[in-house]
Amino acid sequence: MTQKPNPLSSIKVNGPIPAHLARSVIEETLRAAILDGRIPCGAALRQQDLADLFGVSRMPVREALRQLEAQSLLNVVAHKGAVVAPLIQGDAVETYALRILLESEALRLSVPLLQDEDIEQAARYIDELEMESDYTEIGRLNRLFHMVLYSRAPNRRLLRLVEDGLIEEERFLRFNLEAMGLGKLSQDDHQALLRAAEDRDVERSVKLLEHHLNRAVEVITRYLNSPEVRAKNTPR
Ligand code: NI
Repeated sequence: MTQKPNPLSSIKVNGPIPAHLARSVIEETLRAAILDGRIPCGAALRQQDLADLFGVSRMPVREALRQLEAQSLLNVVAHKGAVVAPLIQGDAVETYALRILLESEALRLSVPLLQDEDIEQAARYIDELEMESDYTEIGRLNRLFHMVLYSRAPNRRLLRLVEDGLIEEERFLRFNLEAMGLGKLSQDDHQALLRAAEDRDVERSVKLLEHHLNRAVEVITRYLNSPEVRAKNTPR
């Protein structure tokens, strides 16, 4: 049996962490390492190892892991503890069906309350997306674009769930855009969505958003069902 490399060896901790920042520092550090693949899917994260690494007690570690679990980056598995989640949890169709429900509701609540500055900001994200070829940035800008349009929804809990879904997608895009042959993502959907939001047209915005997300799930499902990807994801 070969020794697996320690997934935490890539993490640098700079000096002692003030207690009140411990949870957020651990959460941010682990999130970044999971998102850029330094800690791979399937890696198990032990609370005690993390507490030692960050020089803190297990309490903030536990809280940070719980946050990452809520963002679908970790799963808690019996006898293994926190394990880095696969790129899309379970069934992509179900994941997107849920996102469509949550995001259309957020959009419905937000569009009538949108300010001109929100529209301008969303337009800037589209411009940046047009220029960007780095997958990490594309995922981030896509999330920010969507979140601006939802941001005026008064239900903060709904917005948190919506953002968790977008973070999950961002992670998936980061690893798969190139393989999916989508190096350059068309901004047509985003442009149309922006115009509908600018007109404060709730029904049209929601329809366009559903279309946008349905199209994404089609592309992703086709990709996940392709023979190469299936072979790669079969547990050894
Ligand atoms: Ni999008």
